[in-house]
Amino acid sequence: MNTTTGRSLAPTKLHVPGCGRRRQQNNYRTNDRRGRRRPSGGTTNAASKNYTLTLLPGDGIGPEIMRVAVDALHEVGRKHDIGFSFEEKLVGGAAIDAFGTPLPEDTLECCKQSDAVLLAAIGGYKWDALEANMRPERGLLGLRAGMEVFANLRPAVVLPQLADASSLKKDIVSGTDIMVVRELTGGIYFGEPKGFGTNDKGERIGFNTMVYSESEVDRIAKVAFEIAQKRGGKLCSVEKSNVLEVSQLWKERVIKQHENYKDVDLSHMYIDNCAMQVIRDPKQFDTIVTGNIFGDIISDAASMLTGSIGMLPSAAVGSSGPGLYEPVHGSAPDIAGQDKANPLAQVLSAAMLLRYQFGEEAAAKSIEEAVNTTLDQGFRTGDIMQEGMKLVGCTQMQEALMKNLSK
Ligand code: IPM
Ligand code: MG
Repeated sequence: MNTTTGRSLAPTKLHVPGCGRRRQQNNYRTNDRRGRRRPSGGTTNAASKNYTLTLLPGDGIGPEIMRVAVDALHEVGRKHDIGFSFEEKLVGGAAIDAFGTPLPEDTLECCKQSDAVLLAAIGGYKWDALEANMRPERGLLGLRAGMEVFANLRPAVVLPQLADASSLKKDIVSGTDIMVVRELTGGIYFGEPKGFGTNDKGERIGFNTMVYSESEVDRIAKVAFEIAQKRGGKLCSVEKSNVLEVSQLWKERVIKQHENYKDVDLSHMYIDNCAMQVIRDPKQFDTIVTGNIFGDIISDAASMLTGSIGMLPSAAVGSSGPGLYEPVHGSAPDIAGQDKANPLAQVLSAAMLLRYQFGEEAAAKSIEEAVNTTLDQGFRTGDIMQEGMKLVGCTQMQEALMKNLSK
């Protein structure tokens, strides 16, 4: 038990309907990249509980950091009598190279059939020149839409050990604990019409549509109110209702939902002001709820308070079925294959998976405490390195973490 920090990295337990239910065993085994079956290497099927997970290592540093998370899952499984069966699938650039599409049908199907999905990262320079529809990112968007995971939970917690690693002053950031609840399957990312055309001057135009229906706002607002209830009891709804109709509807519906959650203190903020306030005085925020693109931006901004985006996990959940768990950071192609990546956000995403998908609180805490202890011992990858600490690569970080996890 780590006594230095004592705080949970993802302090909210969200009740996801259908979570923790038992499913038919698929007898999945870890597949290698060419789809050949490997023996189930460490899969503890004799355990009293068994979960099937689809692993999507993706691109760049993805495979390196996924390995660390899988090791961590095996170890907590052993400790807490939980069995995992893993099936590895391709998505993003890796899938484009192998199958010519960023989201093969087989990948999506496998994800939907499993109990939960652990994703690492997708994208890279190699695929940057492809047209929007064929880019690796399209695979991720298709996965979110196909799995109907409309609620994206992105915690930004400043760990005491890393308060100095932030580019902001320590007294501004220390103690920050924000949960950004981002709508993930609607808004301008998916709105129709979209595309390219020509205006009446014969000039080319590009356009997208930012649209939310009442039911889309209602369901994300409910998730956010429930999370706020279990956290500090404060919810800030972020939009641009001084300009956008879609935001006026958003605000109206959030206010309407508030009637069912009177114990939550609801406030409203425009996105531009929020971007400023998150940096000026982050401790004023508890839970933030916002649309897809605003959430994309504000969660990156919030991540910088914590010192490194390399530390932040996230969960995407729907109203039932498997959720999608992934680090907030990207595939970092510049350091891929060099054993420099920080695997901790990936490992913490596995902890979120255990907590939110399966209600395995003790196992989730074991992982989080091992991460805390590893940081307390001074181990740092390049992205969170500070004077006097031990600079390590991904493999050494893994070794230190596994030592702490097996204690
Ligand atoms: C994120 C990423 C994605 C998004 C990209 C890779 C499509 O930035 O998860 O925040 O915009 O949602
Ligand atoms: Mg983003």
